[in-house]
Amino acid sequence: MVTLHINGEKHTIDASQDMPLLWAIRDIIGYTGTKYGCGKGLCGACMVLMDGNAINSCQLPISNAEGKKIITIEGESKNLQNLQKSWAELNVPQCGFCQPGQLITATALLNSNPNPTDEDIDNAMSRNICRCGTYQRIKNAINLTVENK
Ligand code: FES
Ligand code: FES
Repeated sequence: MVTLHINGEKHTIDASQDMPLLWAIRDIIGYTGTKYGCGKGLCGACMVLMDGNAINSCQLPISNAEGKKIITIEGESKNLQNLQKSWAELNVPQCGFCQPGQLITATALLNSNPNPTDEDIDNAMSRNICRCGTYQRIKNAINLTVENK
């Protein structure tokens, strides 16, 4: 049994200790906003916040997530909510598949750096791939969030 703290709730699940956190979040607990992309830590579609930092949930065994505070795209966090407003205002998503991961990485960026430069944004967001090429709108939405705070 492994107990995970996700979006403010505790979930005790009967699963192998080495199950990737992404599997537990999507298939057992049922938060499907976090996406499976590459499964190899390359695309960022599976990003979640763990104690405020963005991590690839496809790469983390659930045993390493015990006792940590996990937030998915369905969860609540001030920076995440402010970014979501900017995302909607600037119509950032195209197909939308990568966007939960993009928002989580952007949230972690603002958690650690409330006033990022464009270079800071480029560096942080390089962990996330968008097949639709929404990169410029993502950067604009992060800058808008900083302006509006
Ligand atoms: S699915 Fe985890 S990084 Fe691509
Ligand atoms: S919006 Fe389609 S992959 Fe990013």
